Amino acid sequence: MSVGLDIGSKTIKMVELAKDGGKWKLRSSGVVGYSGNPIEHMQDEKELTALSGLIRKLHKESNVSSKDISIALPEPQVFTRTIKFPLLTDQEVASAVKWEAEQYIPIPINEAIIQHQVLERRENTSPPEVLALLVAAPRILVEKYVKVAQMAGLTVSAVETELVSLVRALAPVDQTVLLVDFGARSTDIAIAKNGLLSFSRSIPTAGEAFTRAVAQSLGVDPKQAEEYKKTYGLSGNQLEGKISGALGPVFRLVAEEIKKAIQFYQTEEKGDSPQTVVLSGGTAGLPEAISTLSKSLNLEVVVGNPFAKILLDPETAKKIAPYAPLYSIALGLALGGE
Ligand SMILES: Nc1ncnc2c1ncn2[C@@H]1O[C@H](COP(=O)(O)OP(=O)(O)OP(=O)(O)O)[C@@H](O)[C@H]1O
Ligand SMILES: [Mg+2]
Repeated sequence: MSVGLDIGSKTIKMVELAKDGGKWKLRSSGVVGYSGNPIEHMQDEKELTALSGLIRKLHKESNVSSKDISIALPEPQVFTRTIKFPLLTDQEVASAVKWEAEQYIPIPINEAIIQHQVLERRENTSPPEVLALLVAAPRILVEKYVKVAQMAGLTVSAVETELVSLVRALAPVDQTVLLVDFGARSTDIAIAKNGLLSFSRSIPTAGEAFTRAVAQSLGVDPKQAEEYKKTYGLSGNQLEGKISGALGPVFRLVAEEIKKAIQFYQTEEKGDSPQTVVLSGGTAGLPEAISTLSKSLNLEVVVGNPFAKILLDPETAKKIAPYAPLYSIALGLALGGE
């Protein structure tokens, strides 16, 4: 049994998988809305208690059996860099990372948890090089997550970053793709080459910014704005184009960041151009987002289905279909388990 818990700023998702023969099978899943502060802004014990209560309830009501869970740290709170080394052995890379991490990450080493992964050995470039991915997270943040889980009666067996989970859930092993987790607070962008995270970026513009734009532009309350956003989205011929007019500039900002990410990856990291853009997260459901983004990037854009390779009965498949992209990170976490 393997459980993934994704604590988003607006929704909390949990997925439990079980091995069935050689394949993963969906055992249970659930989602619950959340309106409190993000964990890193929590000041007192009361807030932690409220969040842990919600997680405990989600665990129970989704009928998740295992109490061992994997969690993902929010992308805006972690630091991810691709580093180039001369052609060192894996062991040498490990010690180089240890000694040199300080110059790459903006938090003191003794306050950080650091991990790395060798991505690629380029023996034929001149000079030859090894590419490694470095991930660092504030230790205090990880401790808060572990504490919240403990308060909910759960044990954390693995911690990774959201985009590492997302790549495991959605990236094909034989292509370069661009993944976008379009959430509430942040839009997280990953480029994955052959199933490995090679580039990541997080921007603080996502679902909440869209709702705010509609509320401000039309002078309606946030609840009504949220409704308008979900119903009309970027579709230009609705409500005299007022909603798409309000959302357009914010959406273009996100599209520009995606373009910049691709350019950076191609020029600085000599990576291939991604062939497809795969969207996940709640905001992936924004009406006309796919067509608008596809036109703007001149690339194929699809909504990811993290359950594509998971065994699930037809009834559950039907029930879960509209929410599938919401579960990408929780599912990717669970896939990383034993
Ligand atoms: N059909 C829809 N159209 C547009 N937006 C939608 C739709 N459904 C949900 N959303 C938006 O998706 C967001 C929630 O998505 P998600 O659950 O992925 O976010 P989160 O994981 O809580 O946030 P984050 O990861 O940024 O902290 C909300 O902003 C919500 O308004
Ligand atoms: Mg999220």
